[in-house]
Amino acid sequence: MRILRTITELRDALDAARASGRAVGAVPTMGALHAGHASLIDRAAAGSDEVVVTVFVNPLQFAAHEDLEVYPRDLDGDAALAADHGATTVFAPSEAEMYPEGRDRVLTSVAVPALSGSLEGAARPTHFDGVCTVVAKLFNVLGPCSAYFGEKDFQQLTIIRRMVRDLSFPVAVVACPTVREPDGVAMSSRNAYLSPSERAEAPVLHRALAAASAAYLGGDRSAVRLRTTMTDVIAESTIAELEYAEVVDSVTLEPGVVTDASRLVIAARFGSTRLLDNVSVLDPGGNA
Ligand code: PAF
Repeated sequence: MRILRTITELRDALDAARASGRAVGAVPTMGALHAGHASLIDRAAAGSDEVVVTVFVNPLQFAAHEDLEVYPRDLDGDAALAADHGATTVFAPSEAEMYPEGRDRVLTSVAVPALSGSLEGAARPTHFDGVCTVVAKLFNVLGPCSAYFGEKDFQQLTIIRRMVRDLSFPVAVVACPTVREPDGVAMSSRNAYLSPSERAEAPVLHRALAAASAAYLGGDRSAVRLRTTMTDVIAESTIAELEYAEVVDSVTLEPGVVTDASRLVIAARFGSTRLLDNVSVLDPGGNA
């Protein structure tokens, strides 16, 4: 497996691969790879000949007060995990390679405003514009046939699907199930920030989702009651501070009507760490 640092090197390598008929699969990441990312790479390796894992902590998606500077970075560890799971290339550009004019002089932005202002976007108003801009750029640089994203970041996945559709990117977006710890906590690079007592309370998020999903499967179709089911479970925790618990349509992210296509989404603070999670109303386990 090779590690490439520049857009030119990567394009040359992938042009050669495509010329010999090899399909390119992309796994965009910000590094600090864990079992959740490993499952994306496994899936990409099953469906592509060239599997490119991108490792880039994208400054455009962090607000000034967020954790950009301290975001975990471990390229050696990431490369080892990527290679073990079948990646053929790690693309790890510098910030100057991605944004040669500087992060404050990127004059082009890709945005899906109708899907980006609620839920995570309410707490992080510029976040998804930064995500869309870097993902669009990575798609242009890699030219993948398919790109693999986790359902863990459900709003991100929904927005990227819409961006791809609206802008006709020739990329199949493949959604991969959330990977969970044995106690139900969704794998996330930010779990590393939790203190032992915060980590001990973190399963409450998944318990809240599972309770609401079980209520839905038991026949409850009231958005208000499903939300209350989630907030009641969160209230059992002395540490978790709820930011939102919603039932939204899985394509439009609109709250209100509850159907089999609804998604239960939740976010809470554990000390200074925000955790988010989601499940389909049809799946209390939340792994599909
Ligand atoms: O999900 C992430 O890790 C990032 O938001 C992504 C998609 C790699 C864009 O920087």
